[in-house]
Amino acid sequence: MTPIKIGLAGFGTVGSGLARILDMNGDRIARRVGRRIEIKTVLVRDLQKKRAFETGPDVTFTDDPARLIDDPEISIVVELMGGIGAAKTLITDAFNAKKHVVTANKHLLAEHGPELFALAAKRQCGLLFEASCAGGIPIVQTLKESLAGDEIVSMLGIMNGTANYILSEMTTKGLDFDTALREAQDLGYAEADPTFDIEGMDTAHKLCVLIRLAYGVDFPLKDIPVQGITSVTPQDIQFAREFGYRIKLLAHVAQVNGKLEAGVHPALVPYTYLLARVGGNYNAVRVTGNAVGPIMLHGQGAGDLPTGSAVLADIMHLARHINSNVVTNNTGFGSDPLPPAEIHPPEETVSKYYFRFTVQDRTGVMAAITKSMATHGVSIAQAVQTGEVGGDGVPLVIVSHDTKASAVEAVAREIDAMDFTVEPCVKFRIL
Ligand code: NAP
Ligand code: HSE
Repeated sequence: MTPIKIGLAGFGTVGSGLARILDMNGDRIARRVGRRIEIKTVLVRDLQKKRAFETGPDVTFTDDPARLIDDPEISIVVELMGGIGAAKTLITDAFNAKKHVVTANKHLLAEHGPELFALAAKRQCGLLFEASCAGGIPIVQTLKESLAGDEIVSMLGIMNGTANYILSEMTTKGLDFDTALREAQDLGYAEADPTFDIEGMDTAHKLCVLIRLAYGVDFPLKDIPVQGITSVTPQDIQFAREFGYRIKLLAHVAQVNGKLEAGVHPALVPYTYLLARVGGNYNAVRVTGNAVGPIMLHGQGAGDLPTGSAVLADIMHLARHINSNVVTNNTGFGSDPLPPAEIHPPEETVSKYYFRFTVQDRTGVMAAITKSMATHGVSIAQAVQTGEVGGDGVPLVIVSHDTKASAVEAVAREIDAMDFTVEPCVKFRIL
């Protein structure tokens, strides 16, 4: 059989990881697929850049996307550039040229998924995206195939390797935020714009993609409440530890009264939970189905080889089925476009909360805070005030019982406006 030729757009962390795996495991891959998979052309921006992996003489590098799109020998375009503009154009052009597409681009899928899936279906092309969510963890295939018969009750997980790396390094080694972020960037985990990682947007992109697969509905990205990890300080990590928790950036979605509640936020996770033990660039996703019950997937959520492995699985799937209509079942649901999600109002979400107030150390402060909480129906489970920590204020930490998000916001607004408040209140959910 003639080899399958792919056009690879992007030769950074993931693109070079993919090339390395194809080189390392080429014979095994050919045995499984029945023919070899070969990279024919690689699209990059900078033709002079030194690459992390050296390809053989048969691979041509170009900065012209037409070399992939117009080449009749290339049947699969693999988009690993990231971003929206050029990636969207390339994928659209690939479908119009009747080529299948594999992408790891959750940002693009979260923002423009519906139109790209519609075009793929119209052109009878595959649009596969295993690597877009949780790196090497096969969560897309799990939702689309393995749990296809279940109603998904909830999904909860750590879905960003960079944020998890930063929080883990701050927790276990006492590293400061910026140093940990730089390390994550050097290791190839972070997005080109790392604010997506640390402000929670990358996790929200993934959640948006996974909600479509799990529930067959479109939950607009703008409707997902997102809180990143930039407000997590070493002090919070220390308090969390003393209370028996570790802080993790979580994505969650659940059915509540027939509607979907979703969000991304840092949370205190009891240290005995598996999620609390997920360290470094690892991700973990717990999916609960109404038949299977809870299952947990755990693995590297970012990095060259883990992500390349997920990209390769999609390429192999397409290569096996290239002449059948199996490849056009991209979303896992027959209906296209997907209907809109019915959204449970985020302000009605109920959770326990951790509050850290930074206040002047004077008479009446605790009384004023507890009075505000009582007024808004927030019940206190634990309260701690530590001594002098420098600066003008002292930290006063309160852990609440289950509380509505709207009440938490009202308390924070009220206390932030009081004259003893030195810094705005920090509040995280508790799992
Ligand atoms: P990266 O290291 O920054 O590599 C991007 C590559 O794309 C580079 O080779 C760059 O060319 C090329 N490129 C970017 N814009 C281009 C354009 N307009 N025209 C031609 N080439 C262009 O990125 P990455 O970390 O591999 O990520 C790639 C994709 O995978 C992103 O969508 C990302 O979200 C996703 N992803 C990444 C990871 C991870 O662990 N890194 C995990 C899962 C998913 P030059 O090299 O010449 O600059
Ligand atoms: N920047 C992403 C992360 C890459 O850190 O998880 C994997 O999607």
